[in-house]
Amino acid sequence: MIKIAMFDSKPYDIEAFQKCVEDKTNIKIKMFETKLNEDTVELTKGYDAVNIFVNDDVSETVINELYKNGVKLIALRCAGFNNVDVKAAFNKIHVVRVPAYSPYAVAEHTIAMLLTSVRRIHKAYNRTKDFNFSLSGLTGFDLHGKTVGVIGTGKIGQIFINICKGFGMDILAYDPYPLKDSQINYTSLDELFEKSDIISLHCPLTSDTHHVISKDTVDKMKKGVVILNTSRGALIDADALLEGIKSRKIGAACLDVYEEESDIFFEDYSGHILQDDILARLISMPNVLITSHQAFLTVEALNNIAQTTIQNITDFFEKDEVNNEVCYNCGRKEECKKTRDKKCF
Ligand code: NAI
Repeated sequence: MIKIAMFDSKPYDIEAFQKCVEDKTNIKIKMFETKLNEDTVELTKGYDAVNIFVNDDVSETVINELYKNGVKLIALRCAGFNNVDVKAAFNKIHVVRVPAYSPYAVAEHTIAMLLTSVRRIHKAYNRTKDFNFSLSGLTGFDLHGKTVGVIGTGKIGQIFINICKGFGMDILAYDPYPLKDSQINYTSLDELFEKSDIISLHCPLTSDTHHVISKDTVDKMKKGVVILNTSRGALIDADALLEGIKSRKIGAACLDVYEEESDIFFEDYSGHILQDDILARLISMPNVLITSHQAFLTVEALNNIAQTTIQNITDFFEKDEVNNEVCYNCGRKEECKKTRDKKCF
């Protein structure tokens, strides 16, 4: 029997995972509402694997406690793994993830936010609910003919680019690993900042991409630029974004992620006083649209996440081979000891 402790579990996760394991007698999942962090790691005693999401905090201290508790596998039910100290996990606990569950879900949500923002749909919706049929203040702009700068041309970035092409937009892209033989017009980050009417972030959060949108880079952008972030919050320096909006350099921002989201997003704080002043100020802006890390949330994605996670876990414990493993050496080809379908250490 493989015993799994699932953290930060929400009703939609529970439904998808329960459906996925209902005919499996070799798996037992305990759902915890709380996030995994230094305060909750003691709950993992007696479990073989932990199943975590984007805002669980798996620091070196948590890794060491998990290791002491006999946990052998950290199974992320998401693609990004910036919340796991993979260096500390190396040689102790294996880490697996779900590299893709529905890149379409995220790319389509990015477009939904862009259209909502530039055509003021969120404002029109509230007005007509109140029988206010005035059009004043709802003027948008055509996407056709605009230049969109895409940072990161992986699975999500490529789908986003294809959708943008359908609108007749011009694409500029930056990726340190450009796609070979693609029709994508790659450029430098500086040129992308200078020439784009809209900038969309689709790269992972790493030390290179942390605060890729900062005061310095906002200074290089066109006046009125629209910034889209459905990737990771800390790609944007939220202070710089707020200043850019206040000075009207930034025309609009659509954010599905936020630098300090971990204690806020996914929870219901209606009726509470929000303690994060920057987030409260951003929300108060008429040209800022915020969704709470919702871009992945489609039926298709939830089912794919549950199936791939359970497959990753059973492969690890029962077949002694791991797909979708991430480790400290990932991306450093010359140092990677992994051969196909074997574990990283
Ligand atoms: P991917 O791994 O397919 O693509 C990432 C791309 O970013 C790669 O082409 C890579 O070369 C590029 N990249 C790496 N370093 C870069 C840098 N310094 N500057 C620019 N590009 C760089 O990942 P995928 O599936 O397209 O996901 C992208 C991001 O979307 C993930 O890292 C994750 O943070 C975020 N995401 C957000 C979700 C949400 O619900 N809001 C759901 C799933 C992913």
